[in-house]
Amino acid sequence: MPSYWLDELRKRHKAAELGGGEERKQKQHKEGKLSARERVDLLLDEGTFEEMDKLVRHRCQDFGMQDQVVDGDGFVTGYGLVHGRPVYVFAQDFTVFGGSLSESNAQKICKIMDLAMKTGCPVIGLNDSGGARIQEGVLSLAGYADIFLRNTLASGVVPQISAIMGPCAGGAVYSPAITDFIFMVDKTSYMFVTGPDVIKTVTHEDVDKEALGGATTHNSTSGVAQFMSADDADCLRTIRELLTYLPQNNAENPPRKACSDPTDRMDAKLDSIVPDDASLPYDIKDIITRVVDDGDFLEVHEHFARNIVTGFARLDGRSVGIVANQPAYLAGCLDINSSTKGARFVRFCDAFNIPIITFEDVPGFLPGTSQEFNGIIRHGAKLLYAYAEATVPKITVITRKAYGGAYCVMGSKHLRTDINLAYPTAEIAVMGAEGAVNIVYRREIQQAADPAAARADKVNEFKTRFANPFVAAERGYIDDVIEPRETRPRLIKALRLLENKVDTMPRKKHGNIPL
Ligand code: HXC
Repeated sequence: MPSYWLDELRKRHKAAELGGGEERKQKQHKEGKLSARERVDLLLDEGTFEEMDKLVRHRCQDFGMQDQVVDGDGFVTGYGLVHGRPVYVFAQDFTVFGGSLSESNAQKICKIMDLAMKTGCPVIGLNDSGGARIQEGVLSLAGYADIFLRNTLASGVVPQISAIMGPCAGGAVYSPAITDFIFMVDKTSYMFVTGPDVIKTVTHEDVDKEALGGATTHNSTSGVAQFMSADDADCLRTIRELLTYLPQNNAENPPRKACSDPTDRMDAKLDSIVPDDASLPYDIKDIITRVVDDGDFLEVHEHFARNIVTGFARLDGRSVGIVANQPAYLAGCLDINSSTKGARFVRFCDAFNIPIITFEDVPGFLPGTSQEFNGIIRHGAKLLYAYAEATVPKITVITRKAYGGAYCVMGSKHLRTDINLAYPTAEIAVMGAEGAVNIVYRREIQQAADPAAARADKVNEFKTRFANPFVAAERGYIDDVIEPRETRPRLIKALRLLENKVDTMPRKKHGNIPL
């Protein structure tokens, strides 16, 4: 082979690897950010990255762009392995035109997404970009729209994960928004549709980038992001961990891990976590971590709507999605944010064959005009819809309160949950005894010689009748009342039973979840 071609090939590879140059790379490092290639290397198993389209160039001839050509055009795309399983990845290189999206590198992303769909593998996008490449005008907008379409078609077919590791502004935010999980790196990433300057002009509000769209804002206030990472390395490590719980695609089951935690392990401590006084809080995560394999729980959306806890764990080595009311926060009640958080998680698990374990302790929906005016009816319905629609194995454990509509919503038997268990501390009723007595016996209490004593009597009567799991168990709405210490073995036995569960939905194009 003539050495000329080899030299040319090596020259082009080197140019692509150099990206926007050493100086810009150093600037990236100084800001606490890794380069696109360093990120890809950390994400994938060592030495497994196969790059594609490294030699692609942009075709823009305007604004002097014809003289500024970088091989690869700034995006690093290809495939490799994570824990031995194939994934597709793209990483935007901020050192090349600010990581902006050109027609060419939109096509690079579309190419790997098409392959991911054909081969049934997850797609991971590492975003660090100034958005649409301004010099290319509508061509780059078209490129975004091509990606949005593919994100939508891939939704529910292969897992899609977005990491925001720098700027992500304008319409560009909508590609990550369609994907299943968004990671944001603390202090170096931000997402917004319009930036601080536009906001100042239009609404006269003063807000900086971090407060408007930083990792804390989107993890705790808007709920746009599900994970907040301390730095790039932490982010990539957690993505690798998340992937261990997920199947490659919707036709597969999640990988099963060898389990050294005994499947018949009882835990006497569980008997005393739910306080005797039903008005006292406790941390539901104390129950979750005592029950699952080796106490490993990867929480999803940890900082948002903390009155519901969602995340992945394993039981007998099998991945499970856990949804749990959190009595330690807002008494575990359901509100708008916790409903949408729970619904999205349930739908993800259902799409990817991950059984859903629900721990229920919910006093009801949060009352108030703010909730009603902002649509708790519409948003609460999402959670109800998601549970009812899910056909994966579903198991619910009522640890304490299961009141009102929230009883129905949180994986009740009536929404075709397979196995429903309750602790002896469970209270299942239309509402709490105090509220019930005020409505049902108002006149009787007012007319009593001693209204306070009459009221106390009625409250006691209600508590005795309903503040327990036995009425529901007598009807078969609860399959068994269990001792808390037995939770782990009982859940594992139920999961084994449900391993080959088949359930279906009626034929339809798609349902109309109340958005
Ligand atoms: C082309 C861009 C660019 C872009 C940045 N650069 N954004 N080039 N198109 N969109 C270039 C800069 O010219 C600069 O080149 C280099 O990238 C680094 O940018 P700096 O501004 O020096 O970096 P920094 O100070 O860190 O600021 C980063 C930034 C800023 C906040 C992202 O560059 C910025 O505001 N860019 C524009 C963002 C934007 O409005 N994009 C359009 C969004 S709308 P040199 O050669 O000097 O190093 C959108 C529509 C999508 O994306 C629609 C989908 C439906």
